Amino acid sequence: MPIPSRHRGFLHPIPSEITPRAVYEERRALLRLMAAGAAGATLAAWAGREALAQAQQRPGRLAALPGAASAVAGAVTMEKHTSYQDASTYNNFYEFGTDKADPARNAHTLKPDPWSVEVEGLVKKPGKYAIEDLLRLSAQEERIYRLRCVEGWSMVIPWVGYSLAELIRRVEPLGSAKYVEFVTLADKARMPGVGSRVLDWPYVEGLRLDEALHPLALLAFGMYGEVLPNQNGAPVRLVVPWKYGFKSAKSIVKIRFTEKEPLTAWHKAAPREYGFYSNVNPQVDHPRWSQATERRIGEDGLFAKKRKTLMFNGYEAQVGQLYAGMDLRKFF
Ligand code: MTE
Repeated sequence: MPIPSRHRGFLHPIPSEITPRAVYEERRALLRLMAAGAAGATLAAWAGREALAQAQQRPGRLAALPGAASAVAGAVTMEKHTSYQDASTYNNFYEFGTDKADPARNAHTLKPDPWSVEVEGLVKKPGKYAIEDLLRLSAQEERIYRLRCVEGWSMVIPWVGYSLAELIRRVEPLGSAKYVEFVTLADKARMPGVGSRVLDWPYVEGLRLDEALHPLALLAFGMYGEVLPNQNGAPVRLVVPWKYGFKSAKSIVKIRFTEKEPLTAWHKAAPREYGFYSNVNPQVDHPRWSQATERRIGEDGLFAKKRKTLMFNGYEAQVGQLYAGMDLRKFF
């Protein structure tokens, strides 16, 4: 694949052309075989399978992290969960490569322990939180959220964490704080993708303070009752279920409170394509494709029907008020 220009946006640009996973993985395996040539082929295929198998070994490999059932409105859906296998091997985490299978293959180098998160900017109580302290800051809950990617696919994942609001209240934002910026790790030594020019590293995301305070915005430490696998953003990530998946920053190292709207990594890379708000909105097309439907990972078959994408990803009753009176075509 040619090195992508940082202005071309996501590397799987036309959702209607996104290949079902099984077909796509088979094709990848085939390409690997072809690229490696006869002698290297077996080795390459073996190495790929070995790394994936290592990433998927469970249970027991990752520590248990159970959460009490959440009482937050909208935090649980009865929809079928995506399999752990799919959720942990079909990922976007460009610091480990742009292929969906790259994070599971490469993220074993991440080292999520020791880890700390720096809270800074417009707050009364700035400080550095060791991950152990952050984990204990509030009771862990299980939240079963749909997460929809801007590329046109979605998953249903049982996350474990607590509302980001719990942390925000403890650090006491000043009256002048209007936004929260999330900066994630960018370490060339641990993250092979950080050497590429796909994005201007580090990966940065942001929320308006009232969005960040919404109880559905989750600071997640685990999924499926275990601590997060590296490829899903260990040891701490955001999950903002009413926004396209790229707002859910992985492997956070800094949380900064600001007066100005943060410049996010994807907006910087392609401002016409990725706005600050990035609310899931079937009525606002991405400039290069429709956002009206989505494919649920795990319902792959070649002729699987697409689902209609719901306003705010189905969380309109809970979050619609945050955007009352805003022109969502302008603030996309
Ligand atoms: N966070 C970082 N640091 N780097 C990334 O490339 N990708 C985003 C988001 N968070 C990304 C990131 C995108 S595009 C998506 S869809 C989700 O992570 C995917 O999360 P998942 O792999 O757990 O499904």
